Amino acid sequence: MNLKKINKIKQKSLEELDNIKNLNSLKEFKIKYLGRKSELTQILRSIKDLPKEKKAEFGKAANLTRISIEKKFDNVKEKIEFEEITKESEELDVTAPGTLNKIGHIHPITQMRWETEEIFQKMGFEIIEPYELDDDYHNFESLNMPKDHPARDIWDTFWTEDGYIPITQTSSMQNRIFRSIKPPIRAIVIGKTFRNERTNPSHEHTLYQCEGVYVDKGISLSHMIGTLKTFFDVFFNKNISLKVIPGYFPFVEPGNGIYLSCFICNMKGCRVCKYTGWLEIMGCGMIHPNVLKEGGIDPDVYSGFAWGFGLDRLVMLKYGIEDIRHFHSGDLRFIKQF
Ligand code: DAH
Repeated sequence: MNLKKINKIKQKSLEELDNIKNLNSLKEFKIKYLGRKSELTQILRSIKDLPKEKKAEFGKAANLTRISIEKKFDNVKEKIEFEEITKESEELDVTAPGTLNKIGHIHPITQMRWETEEIFQKMGFEIIEPYELDDDYHNFESLNMPKDHPARDIWDTFWTEDGYIPITQTSSMQNRIFRSIKPPIRAIVIGKTFRNERTNPSHEHTLYQCEGVYVDKGISLSHMIGTLKTFFDVFFNKNISLKVIPGYFPFVEPGNGIYLSCFICNMKGCRVCKYTGWLEIMGCGMIHPNVLKEGGIDPDVYSGFAWGFGLDRLVMLKYGIEDIRHFHSGDLRFIKQF
């Protein structure tokens, strides 16, 4: 061993460090000059065997060499890491569109809601969200149901202690729509409604409804039937027949129920339509003059129609789902099928 050898290692290694440009080469460098089998480590190990007078001299030289190599190594490493990080951020285009998150599923009712909104939007309807908690006036009174009206019993209603209602129907937005939009009015309201009901395969405490209103001069039942038929034809991608029957709701006169020709069996008769060929789907009718008046619209000048259907029921029919409680069960085996 001689000092020249130690100096040579020092010179060579520091020179090599100057030319290193990436972390991989740096790793190789570390093994070569500072690793367990490196020349310098071997020298450092053998120092203890040297005669006393040489120990100090060689020990000092070898250790100082190691320290200077390590110091320069750390500097180079820091520099390369910094360069790599800044290079990455230069390559990051913050204006690029995000990648679609493919994890998870859209709930079937949400899919139905988007489809419904899109079809009505294309027909010129605007979309309005209901208040989930509303007052007696909007849920009942403005809809031609004064406090003691027996028709209120149609809806099993939840009440809060201070007299508010988790809405039983999205018709609760009718009065606000009439007061805020000038005719012609074309609007749909989609949102959650709530019923104080014992749950079973066809009843849930929470369901989604789509309410719609159309008000203008000279509007008649034939406009209503045409509008709804167009919607269902597009929705089911089939020519659907509607059967319009009389029905009672206090906010329409005349009031109607609508049946659709069974899109599952094409009216041949099946389990879903109970072998009748028809599916009961919704309530609708011509808006009652009292409701228009309450909304600030003159019923002698304007007329209109309104409807309401349950999105849950539509999804159940479309996919043949037998139990409405699956929707909010949180059971992934159910949700993953859509
Ligand atoms: N709101 C009614 C319900 O919850 C459905 C309905 C029926 C809405 C007739 C209407 C209508 O606008 O005209 O059962």
